[in-house]
Amino acid sequence: MRQNTLVLLKPDAYLRRYVGACVLKEFRENKMFKIKAFKEITPSQSLAEKHYEVHREKPFFKKLVEYLTLGPVIAMVIEGEEAISSIRLMLGATFSERAAPNTIRGKYGIWDGINVVHASDGEETARYEIKLWCEEAGVKELDENSVNYLIDNYINQWFKIKVDNTLKIREICRLISDGKSRIEKHELELFKLLREECVDSDENRVKKFVKIIADTLQG
Ligand code: RTP
Ligand code: MG
Repeated sequence: MRQNTLVLLKPDAYLRRYVGACVLKEFRENKMFKIKAFKEITPSQSLAEKHYEVHREKPFFKKLVEYLTLGPVIAMVIEGEEAISSIRLMLGATFSERAAPNTIRGKYGIWDGINVVHASDGEETARYEIKLWCEEAGVKELDENSVNYLIDNYINQWFKIKVDNTLKIREICRLISDGKSRIEKHELELFKLLREECVDSDENRVKKFVKIIADTLQG
């Protein structure tokens, strides 16, 4: 069955420019998918809260909203045969360090829920999310040429950066998560590694990014 699904390049992938370009390239080059909408948006607090409405009562809700509002995202509507489940398979498990190595989260996710991409998890969710991002952020279907132009532009601009520090960052997270080291010892190193990747982010945004990783590691 042909389905539409909402896919978000989350702020970690947006700010880490090369990683974002690699992920977009995977969607763009997959002939099974048609990218019908493509829009760069800085989500408001309210949009992020509504997007994760089902998690409102969860203990991690506040952190989740802070993460989704860290910076801009790329919102896409993607159509394809069984697009919902096939894109979820491409993403891999929710927690990056547990995601299979050939999945997007396995390859580029930092740690736990800092996991690069969102995709709708079912038909009802997809309908809710596409309507939400359409109404609150103006995500709408564009003609094929316009979408291809926007996405190719993005990839051409950032794919040449070629800086991907995922494994180095994840190793630091693993040390802290395993109790073998403390976050305070690694904040500067994390800042430097992210700064290399987030080529056009200002210092404060990268500091906030480090804080989001620290909060995740502190449960
Ligand atoms: P997403 O909605 O972002 O595509 O991720 P998902 O379906 O794989 O996972 P979901 O269960 O919907 O959780 C949404 C996001 O919440 C964060 N999370 N943190 N600390 C925790 O136990 C926890 N559980 C989930 C992750 O950022 C996840 O992507
Ligand atoms: Mg979900």
